[in-house]
Amino acid sequence: MQTIQDLLSEQVRAAFAAAFPGADLAGLPLAATPAGDEAFGDYQSNGAMAAAKVLRQPPRQVAEQVVRHLPTGDLLAKVEIAGPGFINMTLADDALARHVAAMQDDPHVGLPQSGAGRRLILDYSAPNVAKPMHIAHIRSTVIGDALKRIYRALGYEVLGDNHLGDWGTQFGILIMGYRHFLDKAALAASPVDELQRVYVLSHQRCEENPAWQDQARAELVKLQAGDPENRALWQTFIDLSLEEFNRIYARLGVSFELIRGESYYNDALPGVVQKLQDLGLVRESEGALVAFLDDEKLPPCIVRKSDGGYNYATTDLATVFSREQEFQPAAILYVTDERQQLHFRQFFAIARKAGVTTPLRHIWFGLMRLPEGLLSTRKGTAIKLDLLLDEAEKRALELVRQASPDMPEAQQQAVARAVGIGAVKYADLSQNPQSAVSFTWEKALAMDGNSAPYLQYAYARIASVLDKHAERFPGHDWCAAPLVLDSPHARRLALRLARYSGAVCAAAAQEKPSLLADALYDLSQAYSSFYQNVPFLKAEAGLRESRVRLCALTAKVLRHGLGLLGIETPDRI
Ligand code: ARG
Repeated sequence: MQTIQDLLSEQVRAAFAAAFPGADLAGLPLAATPAGDEAFGDYQSNGAMAAAKVLRQPPRQVAEQVVRHLPTGDLLAKVEIAGPGFINMTLADDALARHVAAMQDDPHVGLPQSGAGRRLILDYSAPNVAKPMHIAHIRSTVIGDALKRIYRALGYEVLGDNHLGDWGTQFGILIMGYRHFLDKAALAASPVDELQRVYVLSHQRCEENPAWQDQARAELVKLQAGDPENRALWQTFIDLSLEEFNRIYARLGVSFELIRGESYYNDALPGVVQKLQDLGLVRESEGALVAFLDDEKLPPCIVRKSDGGYNYATTDLATVFSREQEFQPAAILYVTDERQQLHFRQFFAIARKAGVTTPLRHIWFGLMRLPEGLLSTRKGTAIKLDLLLDEAEKRALELVRQASPDMPEAQQQAVARAVGIGAVKYADLSQNPQSAVSFTWEKALAMDGNSAPYLQYAYARIASVLDKHAERFPGHDWCAAPLVLDSPHARRLALRLARYSGAVCAAAAQEKPSLLADALYDLSQAYSSFYQNVPFLKAEAGLRESRVRLCALTAKVLRHGLGLLGIETPDRI
């Protein structure tokens, strides 16, 4: 289905074209967007302001001419000009009801399949082997997974690739640490913590003792040359780390289509550097091979170090060549924290010059502050996600016990799992990814605010209305009842339902799951005022079924939308 927003945008564009034939308005922001304030209608276009400059006419005058070509009738009930030239549009009730009714039968709940036939590669999570998952990797995991679900819902084929940090100089140091400092019992109890511990010890030795450092280098060279013993150790590090990462992924309900760590591209690195040399993109400087990016106003980027080693950028170049060739994606998206912006700018610039034509996008986010104490390790940088999730489930269980004391214990626990994990994810996804945020339990688990438990609870309450209706009025089918938007509450709810697809498209286009979260919160608030102000089961037949149908659609959209955020919706809370 086409979104209402796109339908209106098309009409607005056509009206501009008809009003100003011959004017070049391409690229101007003419599109319809949801109105900020409902007093001004349902959607608005600010295009007259943008076009006024090109047309050299006062914006209001531009708006007046456009509106003459914007017919009211079938889709629009009212078109008005406000302020300096805003074009405010109000949908016809009939058109709104028809659109919302069509969403009910659409397998995609009204979402346009604009990505059909196109493939995306989404590079996210990507923790480093032998280190506990850092908060940055957790955010990348949760945001990446939500984006994957969102793009898929729009018809894209999405390959999620976990580009593990499983190669590099740290492995020489780690092998030394493992050989000299390992505590077997600790390794059995908490493998990644123990690997981290021996790494830190060995790293310290490197700094104090040049002989130790030389030996660590020698171990790395052996590993790179395929020495069986070092290879086996390295594989152990990966297996132990993946076991722990996989446990976390399972708890979060996250999976990947590909797990190709940095090591996967190791053999391709010399060829990549050769190619850059052949293209004249790198020069030798102090023994290293360097790409100079003066034209791009970026600092130079080393692709081969003076000791012959390759670095992060070289691996990413090898990765992008391989992905482009093997998968011909429509785009490749990388989800990491903000500290990697320079890396991606440099690597994208080199990739372009080396002939990569696939659009490459870096989706970055700020770091989230977590509650003090509980989660920080000694050094205060890495956090133990397991503990965070345990605590979330524990707190959610208290909530569920209070809300449903009569629920069987096993069910309470299952619901608490969905609510606890949902709360942690939503606390992350509902924030603008690019602003600094802190996580608090109060906010994450608030039953009366913009939180997962609030939305999950809203969903469960709606589901119970449907059950009650089926119980009290058996055989009264609401599925095809004509939708009557007879009150401002019903109309507002229908409008929020109709805006759902536009919100999913915006979240995809701007790579911000928070835009979807906002729309779901808005929807649940519109539902709540509808529910409080309009009788359902006591309403007369016909009207009753119309209301129950709106209610069922709200449940469907909430469930679908939370699903796109990777959040479950239990039938009861
Ligand atoms: N392993 C990296 C890190 O921990 C993240 C990798 C992101 N993906 C990429 N293709 N560079 O910082």
